[in-house]
Amino acid sequence: MEYRAPRGTRDILPQDTPHWQYVEEKFRNICKNYGFSEIRTPTFEHTELFTRNLGDLTDVVSKEMYTFSTKGNTSLTLRPEGTAPTMRAYCEHNLGERLPVCKLYYIANLFRYERPQAGRYRQHTQLGIEAVGTSDAAMDAEIISLASSFFKSIGICEYMLKLNSIGCPGCRPNYRKALLEYVDGRVDELCSSCAARYEQNPLRMLDCKNSDCKDVLAGAPRLTDYLCDECSYHFETLKGYLDALGIDYVLDPNLVRGFDYYTKTAFEFVSGALGAQNAIGGGGRYDNMVEEICGKHVPSIGFGLGLDRLMLTLEAMGVELPVENKIDAYICTMGENAHRYAVELLYSLRNAGLACDMDYTARSLKAQMKLAGKNNAKYAIILGDNELERGIATVKNMGESTQCEIAFDELIDFLKK
Ligand code: HAM
Repeated sequence: MEYRAPRGTRDILPQDTPHWQYVEEKFRNICKNYGFSEIRTPTFEHTELFTRNLGDLTDVVSKEMYTFSTKGNTSLTLRPEGTAPTMRAYCEHNLGERLPVCKLYYIANLFRYERPQAGRYRQHTQLGIEAVGTSDAAMDAEIISLASSFFKSIGICEYMLKLNSIGCPGCRPNYRKALLEYVDGRVDELCSSCAARYEQNPLRMLDCKNSDCKDVLAGAPRLTDYLCDECSYHFETLKGYLDALGIDYVLDPNLVRGFDYYTKTAFEFVSGALGAQNAIGGGGRYDNMVEEICGKHVPSIGFGLGLDRLMLTLEAMGVELPVENKIDAYICTMGENAHRYAVELLYSLRNAGLACDMDYTARSLKAQMKLAGKNNAKYAIILGDNELERGIATVKNMGESTQCEIAFDELIDFLKK
């Protein structure tokens, strides 16, 4: 059998990981800047956490979860998203006790059994944040502005922020009724999924990509016209903050997001540089999830950005990340004595904080010099019997192709300069 990565998964290779690390580091720094701390939760959770909190009828729960049973017959699921696990941890460790608003971020691998295509994988990575403990629209604005600062910091300037409010359990039933009345009589024009949604979860019809469904729903009533006073005030306040911060957005009355936990604010970032899978991130409020999990009313908001899609966007936009992929020195040796000495020298250079390497395959000097180039070394340190006798190394500046002799005890200072 020829082994390959399972369908829908991929390897991120050494030539690409520095770019991923760069983007992750930018994200970490911005989270720190905004007062968010990292949380790491397990890769799998009890299945019920997801079935109860994401919504039975969502695509993720109904068809995309990687669920398995342990020998003791406990049902576990590879996390398909990061919000429910983070709220589970929030409740389990009583994280709200220390600070009234708990601000968390994560970088997590997530698993969804989806049909793979460009930008859609069965394992993807999300950069996520969750602010737990406030219903203040200023926090909604903070979450969105964090994403906007992050995009800017990595060079993604062209994207669209779609914004909507999907109300709360208080105002949504009125809208639901109006939507059902509007669609009534045209259910047979809907796709089979939407026909089922009409019965069970009508709001989901709004973001169906099927063109027939889009036609039917084109003139549907708008959720934002049915908001209760509280939701309406919250939405207006958020828009006011975004305007004040100069953050552009497009109101999208059909944006309902893929999970049932959302309340009030819903938003998505869309990149024109990608194909069909153009959502580079999304999020919203989920004011009732903590209550579902541990009984306390703790309003919250967050987002998840798809790291895989961000990397594709950067590539499609031709953004060159300033990734420094060089090592300080590569030691090239001639003869056994020099090779032996190189082991000690390498150890002391590395202990001094220099990134260095050498050859372990007994190649010719010429081949080792080539390796110094392939390893992106700033300097090649050349050692032979002659150098050992004189206590010096021949040091070649790989960029400028110049060469000089440096005493062993001055080598660290020289390379550090
Ligand atoms: P989501 O919209 O399902 O939200 O995912 C967030 C982002 O993850 C998407 O916009 C997309 O960029 C990326 N993504 C999702 N599925 C895939 C996939 N199969 N392949 C590649 N990228 C993918 C959530 O997961 C929510 N938990 C976000 C959130 C946090 N809401 C509140 N807090």
